[in-house]
Amino acid sequence: MNEIIKFENVGFKYVTDDEAADNVVISDLSLSIGKGSFVAVLGHNGSGKSTLAKLSNAILVPQKGKVTVNGMDTADESNKDSIRRTVGMVFQNPDNQIVATIVEDDVAFGPENLGVDPDEIRKRVDSALKSVGMYEYKDHEPHKLSGGQKQRVAIAGIIAMQTECIVLDEPTAMLDPRGRKEVMKTIKHLNKDMGITVVFITHYMDEAVQADRVIVMDDGTVAFDGKPKEVFRNTDKLKAIGLDVPQVTELSCLLRKDGIDIRADILNEEEFIEAFSKIAEVSE
Ligand SMILES: Nc1ncnc2c1ncn2[C@@H]1O[C@H](COP(=O)(O)OP(=O)(O)OP(=O)(O)O)[C@@H](O)[C@H]1O
Ligand SMILES: [Mg+2]
Repeated sequence: MNEIIKFENVGFKYVTDDEAADNVVISDLSLSIGKGSFVAVLGHNGSGKSTLAKLSNAILVPQKGKVTVNGMDTADESNKDSIRRTVGMVFQNPDNQIVATIVEDDVAFGPENLGVDPDEIRKRVDSALKSVGMYEYKDHEPHKLSGGQKQRVAIAGIIAMQTECIVLDEPTAMLDPRGRKEVMKTIKHLNKDMGITVVFITHYMDEAVQADRVIVMDDGTVAFDGKPKEVFRNTDKLKAIGLDVPQVTELSCLLRKDGIDIRADILNEEEFIEAFSKIAEVSE
């Protein structure tokens, strides 16, 4: 099996008091997350990203269709523990995820709950803290750390549970630019060096372009799905569904509209400078 998470024609709505309300949040959604992949999920506010995340590890179960994790149906109550051991979640607010008063105890909390042997927990906590670059803070009080450091501790808590996959729901949204960079670096390390599958929900385009695949959600279904270069060249369509594109991509698009022959798939400043200097050379 090459996929770790699979959605098959999934439909989901929140049950509210207002029965007449049309509150379908996910409609007929099918997608697979490949093992070892690094997938970014984008979409405007309310497009269903967090719901998608919660459906991925059985916090929510669909009313229609099926979600499976390593082949296990999330709707089957008896699979819940195994699913939570396979897919870990990191949320937006670092303060809501801290459960202990010392960093290493916080990281140990997950594996303790899984009933892992204390010697093994010790090893896992040390190695998880090292892999997020927070080992030297193991005796610190989490609430005194910066936002980026807190998120790295939260990520270490998931690593210590040895889940195969981490779903991160806007983990950088409340961080300053430095914290965002730290967390991005950590996420890439987990994926590239440790082989952990990453599903990374963000509203920052410059972060999404770093993934191998970008899924764009719109009204509970998939609007675009592909490599960052394929997805972001749809500048106008992305804007129409309430998303920005990276600034350099938009600038290239405007230049193209003005008749300047610049590539449509530019995603970062380096690529822009390279492409633009070629044009400048030609016109000299
Ligand atoms: N617990 C809930 N009860 C009822 N409706 C909900 C609940 N949670 C979310 N919704 C609604 O479901 C829709 C999708 O919400 P969701 O949180 O999945 O979107 P999102 O893409 O994560 O948005 P954001 O970018 O704001 O985080 C929204 O219309 C939201 O108001
Ligand atoms: Mg959300």
